[in-house]
Amino acid sequence: MSFSALLDSLPIPIIQAPMVGASFDAMTVAVSEAGGMGTFAAATLAPDEIGPAIEAIRARTAAPFGVNLLMAPPASPTPAEVDAALARLAPWYADLGIEVPEHPNRFSQDLGAQIEALIRAAPTVASFTFSILTRAQVAAFHAAGSYVVGTANTVGEAKAWAEVGADGICAQGFEAGGHHAYFLADIEASSVGTMALVATVLEAVDVPVIAAGGIMDGRGVAAALALGAGAVQMGSAFLLADEATNGNTWQKALREAPDDATRLTRAFSGRYARGLENRFLREMAAAQNEVPAYPVQNRLTQAMRAAADKAGDPEMMSLWAGQAVTMARPGAAGEMVRLWWAQAQQTAQALALRTGAVRR
Ligand SMILES: Cc1cc2nc3c(=O)[nH]c(=O)nc-3n(C[C@H](O)[C@H](O)[C@H](O)COP(=O)(O)O)c2cc1C
Repeated sequence: MSFSALLDSLPIPIIQAPMVGASFDAMTVAVSEAGGMGTFAAATLAPDEIGPAIEAIRARTAAPFGVNLLMAPPASPTPAEVDAALARLAPWYADLGIEVPEHPNRFSQDLGAQIEALIRAAPTVASFTFSILTRAQVAAFHAAGSYVVGTANTVGEAKAWAEVGADGICAQGFEAGGHHAYFLADIEASSVGTMALVATVLEAVDVPVIAAGGIMDGRGVAAALALGAGAVQMGSAFLLADEATNGNTWQKALREAPDDATRLTRAFSGRYARGLENRFLREMAAAQNEVPAYPVQNRLTQAMRAAADKAGDPEMMSLWAGQAVTMARPGAAGEMVRLWWAQAQQTAQALALRTGAVRR
């Protein structure tokens, strides 16, 4: 079966975005069982945890699901670089009443070993963000029976993924919550809205395109399908779901978010990501280009973010969310997916009337 046939076979062409820190296995299972496709966020798992986690999901659903890895580059900062970064964070740790962390031994999981574990586990779909696989790695996934989806912020990145043999492109627009996928150009050159990105990527590659960024309900789903997307990938729309794992403080901040509340920031992780504006984001804005690149800064702020969460203080947490997050609603993830699909069908009917494709 081609990847396009797999997407066509989904009862509901809605993919739940992998969300480190906000989604885990329960959401993946709920969305796949409802007829969409869940994606398990595996980036923070140790290589030997990946296979068992996938087996556990398989035991709970026979429907297809995806597994996602964030492709963190190897990091070996000098002790002086780590000291400087920690010194910048010291007042924030002091505010929380905790010690600045020790120099970590490791800044992220071993990506090569994670990829090998994922090939062995052979999920239906393996998706990747922040960099690109080699042609040989893509071939190894194919030999194992997995489809490969590469995330792109630009047409150039989509072409690069198609070139190494990816089966589909997740076109992530500038609206998107969380980290942005850019890996060929800087953030400014990689900031393309979902509508422009999906249309131009479709012109450039021959594989199915999954639209991501700013899609919050059935109208957005219908709009993306009208553009020619094979499916949509939604993240922020699930942030208040029963199965979401982002916790009370983050969810309260989302429910109370004012209009136009999100910003792109590099301050939390060393890589641009979109989240609700808060004190850390504002006060670190001037220094954000000086912090060490992902994953180093991400690791160094980890204890701060966790302590702030524990203290119920949203001002030092990375409250990742997309531009349309005020449209997020609570509920069971499976019911949300079914509701959005019903809305998309109503939208399509209204459009068919409006365009004269069908007569009243
Ligand atoms: C809290 C959060 C965590 C995310 N974590 C990941 C991740 O682990 N891997 C990934 O590929 N994308 C991740 N993303 C990005 C999503 O895959 C997707 O591109 C984005 O949510 C789409 O935009 P939307 O939030 O407007 O729906 C994350 C997004 C959010 C909001």
